[in-house]
Amino acid sequence: SKSVGKGSAPVNIALSKYWGKRDTILNLPTNGSASISLPGLGTETQVKIISATKNHQDKVSLNGELLEAEAPFAKRVSNFLNYFRGNSHTLFEVTTCNSVPTAAGLASSASGYAALVLALDDLFEWNLADKELSLLARLGSGSASRSLFPGFSVWHQGTQTDGLDSYAEAIETQWPEFCIGLLEIDVKQKPVSSTQGMQNTVETCALYQAWPEQANRDLQTILNAIEEKNFSTLGKTAEHNALTMHATMIATWPPIVYWQPESVEAMHKVWQLREQGVEVYFTMDAGPNLKLLFLQTEKPAIKQAFKDVKILEPFKH
Ligand code: DP6
Repeated sequence: SKSVGKGSAPVNIALSKYWGKRDTILNLPTNGSASISLPGLGTETQVKIISATKNHQDKVSLNGELLEAEAPFAKRVSNFLNYFRGNSHTLFEVTTCNSVPTAAGLASSASGYAALVLALDDLFEWNLADKELSLLARLGSGSASRSLFPGFSVWHQGTQTDGLDSYAEAIETQWPEFCIGLLEIDVKQKPVSSTQGMQNTVETCALYQAWPEQANRDLQTILNAIEEKNFSTLGKTAEHNALTMHATMIATWPPIVYWQPESVEAMHKVWQLREQGVEVYFTMDAGPNLKLLFLQTEKPAIKQAFKDVKILEPFKH
């Protein structure tokens, strides 16, 4: 193997969400999902094998800071690295940097585990194909399976218990007019992690029963809408899918409410704009921020309505 392995991967935003696992160890989802990657926002990672450290622990640093071995982030990374140790004496040093403003609420495990898998592939010179890379990234974090590709991507739910049919693939469609607007809303509360949140939902939310079927129907609708470049159908379905996911979160006990007053305010603004004929939709993940979906023609209207929106064009770079 080489002395250092390097990898980088983008953040992705699900248009049709992953929420709930049929296997919590292998991160096997109860439904398929589709996403779009954000160019220029993501994670860069380096990994190397190190000789024994004093507590026999990996060294994990994040954005230039060496983490305590007990820090949740470091523990989760070490746990994932257990899959890749040749023997129990192998230790890794992982240096990871997010090119995502933390306030944007995008600093996700998705780009992190995708970048780490690419760095391991580079270190060990495996030259794995996309499918295998996606399977491995999924073991770190479900949504990471979709972060290996630019543009649109689809994560197949799979049905096997070994998870070997649960991986993501790139969707080749290019859609130059497609825009994403990031609305940053202040986080005041300590958020519930996706991992914990979806598990509580699966265990305590009666409404969740309806989720897998709707999610898979929405996924199919969104895949067709991407293929046909039918923006209205894509936007409507993505917004409805996100709100349905949040409905299951709210109906969980203890309740999971990621929304802040400003999130709800922004939703109303989106609905008002639509009434005025501006075609814009939103989606939201496990946090208070809205991600706006619109086409290039609506850029001026969006900039005017949302003063601090950060606009990204995933197919132009
Ligand atoms: C709301 O992939 O972070 O962003 O598999 O436990 O690491 P783990 O969960 P994670 O969940 C992402 C949830 C979501 C929706 C999505 O990205 O599809």
